[in-house]
Amino acid sequence: MFAGIDVGSLTAKAVLINEVGKTFSFIKETGDNPKKSGEKVFEEVLRKAEINKADVKHIIGTGYGRIALSFVDKTVTELTCHAKGAHYLNPAIRTLIDIGGQDSKVITLNQNGGMADFVMNDKCAAGTGRFLEVMAGALKLDLKEMGDFSLRSNSPCVINSICTVFAESEVISLLASGRAKEDIIAGLHQGIAKRVGNMARRLGIKDEITFVGGVSKNTGLKSALETYLEIKFAPVGEDPQIVGALGAALFAREKYFTELSRKP
Ligand SMILES: Nc1ncnc2c1ncn2[C@@H]1O[C@H](COP(=O)(O)OP(=O)(O)OP(=O)(O)O)[C@@H](O)[C@H]1O
Ligand SMILES: [Mg+2]
Repeated sequence: MFAGIDVGSLTAKAVLINEVGKTFSFIKETGDNPKKSGEKVFEEVLRKAEINKADVKHIIGTGYGRIALSFVDKTVTELTCHAKGAHYLNPAIRTLIDIGGQDSKVITLNQNGGMADFVMNDKCAAGTGRFLEVMAGALKLDLKEMGDFSLRSNSPCVINSICTVFAESEVISLLASGRAKEDIIAGLHQGIAKRVGNMARRLGIKDEITFVGGVSKNTGLKSALETYLEIKFAPVGEDPQIVGALGAALFAREKYFTELSRKP
């Protein structure tokens, strides 16, 4: 078995993959201790697969918290791991949008699944998972319901603020003025779709394009991005949140066999 551990700003993800491609995954919150959550998520995925640490031949760490991981054999950047994981799941993918907890990224891939180019917005929380979590709090809604809820809107609000703090007060004012929650959320999604969509356009979209990271589970934002960019996202496995950890596990598997083949 081979492991990939992606410790992101909000969640830690672990993927195990064996020689023939069978996988196991686990996701938990990162909290305030990336080192501990990395270790915990690894323990959880081992438990799920019913194996021991000694059964794992190589481990690769990725994500912003990767430097805190002392039990991994090597670290690889998140962008490279996302490209690797997406290519494995769907070799036709050439453009990848990843929205996580603290940043949004657009990556273009070459035909071998290597990263060709990227743009990243890590300057502020606008348009990230953290931003949507703050808005869900202001609207007193479960984050996981926000996507489907926003799809019911017939007249989305126009939200002008892109800063989390200002957008939150704009949301509160809109609520006070009697606007429906679904219209407010749909307006937030349209604002994010425009920002991230423009980032993707700047980089140059190549088909097929897909959407990964935890925020891609938000059906409303996904649909807003498809409408804004006039595209349809290609499928990328069952869980788009673990694509980076899967990429890391694939690198671990490759590295192990490369080293094995070099041994006399
Ligand atoms: N079912 C869901 N519906 C909507 N949003 C979701 C869902 N599941 C997770 N999320 C969002 O996904 C976000 C976390 O995504 P992800 O795990 O990709 O982030 P991360 O890797 O920790 O962050 P980063 O890559 O920026 O360091 C959270 O903000 C959460 O709001
Ligand atoms: Mg991430």
